[in-house]
Order: sequence, then structure tokens, then C-alpha cells
Amino acid sequence: MSRIVFVNGAFVPYEEASVPIMDRGFLFADGIYDVAAVIDGKLVDNEAHLARLVRCLRDIGIESPYTIEEWTRHEEELVTRNGLSEGLVYMQVTRGVFERDFAFPPESVKPTVVMFTQAKSIASSKLAKTGAGVITTPDLRWKRRDIKSIALLAQVLAKQEAVRAGVAEAWMVEEDGYVTEGASSTAFIITRDGRIVTRPLSNAILPGITRRAVMRLAEEQGLAVEERLFTVAEAQDAAEAFFTSASAFVMPAVTIDGKPVGDGKPGPLTKRLRALYLDMAAASNSGNMR
Ligand code: PDD
Repeated sequence: MSRIVFVNGAFVPYEEASVPIMDRGFLFADGIYDVAAVIDGKLVDNEAHLARLVRCLRDIGIESPYTIEEWTRHEEELVTRNGLSEGLVYMQVTRGVFERDFAFPPESVKPTVVMFTQAKSIASSKLAKTGAGVITTPDLRWKRRDIKSIALLAQVLAKQEAVRAGVAEAWMVEEDGYVTEGASSTAFIITRDGRIVTRPLSNAILPGITRRAVMRLAEEQGLAVEERLFTVAEAQDAAEAFFTSASAFVMPAVTIDGKPVGDGKPGPLTKRLRALYLDMAAASNSGNMR
């Protein structure tokens, strides 16, 4: 089956898809994106992903080119056309194509919309069984990290550091010593008295959709969830650690900067949260989560 992507309302073969070099996404990273998971051909928690996409567009002054219903239809059609069973749907909107100029282009310039799918083992991830290593690195990003900006250079560099260290993720650390989040995930620790800790929402981090679902699932189980800052040292000394994202769900973090967390294996509470999330994902209906 040949790969089909979505460009400005049309479903086209990947080989034929292109965006002009004057696209503001290419020149200025002037755009936003979102990523939703697909399990058994169904989108997971998709309404929340689309709500964030539309909010991010509003925050940078781009009118959403589609309604939530239209976005959902396009995503579903893309999943079907690519025969995607497990993986990701990527959606990107930029401020469109215009002669290079920092200021916004005229209103007649329409946003560029690109969507594609990627096959990926998420529920069936092998890494989730052993757990992932994490390194820490300074957070070099701008001050509106709540916007899912396509300007990802700091995360690209952080991730490459992780790859060089032979691990899966980098946790970024503010100058004050507190962890912000992963290069492409939300960071969590579990204290020795069983409290699930993650950084509170603010402009310093992306409001993770998986984060929200995991917190809700934990609370439904009567588990203690605490939103507060934590340091690298506290994370290394925690009972368990994990990170969440649409592309990893709940991923145990078993080492931090080479130091084992707990016994260096995925912890019981992390495994329980992953199982709860997988159950939720399996029960999900496209665009209509819980
Ligand atoms: N990244 N923080 C950052 C910086 C992220 O890039 C992501 C997701 C998350 C987790 O958000 P969510 O649970 O909504 O996926 C947190 C996606 C998967 C990516 O860029 O591919």
C-alpha cells in the first residue's frame, strides 16, 4: 500500500507531496503541530489533541482551517487510506506561503496544513518491558513551551544527546535545577511513599494529553497525585520514574544519568499506570474518548 499524506485538503501520494520553500513553517518555524496515537486503527484521546491544536493555533493568531469534526474526518480518512493499525497521526499547521518577511502575511494567505501517519509500536513497545534510560540536559527553549511549536531545535539537540548516551529520552532541566519535561514527553516520579509527582502546568511545559489522562486514571484508582516541582536528585532517589506521551504512552524510566531509579527495573505502580492507560486506549473510539 503506497503512503498517502494530506496537504491542504488533498490526499496525495507521499512522493508527489510538496510545500513551497517560502512556507513560513520552513523559514521561521511559524506554526504548530500535534501528534495523536492510533491503536487498533482508532485514534486515542483525539478530542483532547484537537482541542490543544486549536488552542495553540489561537495562541499564535492562526485561524483553524477546519472544525473539530473536519479535522477528525481527515485524520480518520488518513488512517484508513494508509491501513494504519498502530502508530501516530501527525498534524501541522503553518502561517502559509508568502515572500519572506517577519510580520504576518496578508489575511488572504491561507495556512498550510500537512498531515501524515507513521507506523509505530506503542502499546506493543518492547522498550516498555525493560524500561528506558533517561539523561538530563539544560532546557534551552523559549518561554511559551505550552505552545506545541514546530520550532524544536532545542529538543532535537537534547534527543541527540540522549542517543549519544545510548538512552531513549532526555529530561530538560531549568536553571533553578528543577526538571521541566522530556524532549518529547512529560516527566513523572513516584516517591517512596507512593505519591505520583509531576510538574504543574504553566508556560514552562507542554500540557501533555497523556499526562492528563494518566493523572485522571491514577486519581480514579485512589492514588495520590501531586503537582509540584522536582529536581534531578529527587528523581534519581525516587522509588520509580516514568514519562508519558502519545508516542510512548506510559514509559518506565529506569536510569537517570546512568543512576538506577529504584531497583533499575520498571516499577509496580508505573506498570499499573501503563496497563490502565492501555485499557483506556483499547476502549477508545475515534475522536470520542471517555
Ligand atoms: N511530543 N512535552 C513535550 C515537549 C512533547 O513534545 C510532548 C509530545 C509531550 C507529551 O504530550 P502528549 O502526551 O500530548 O503527547 C510533552 C510528541 C509525541 C512529539 O513531538 O512527537
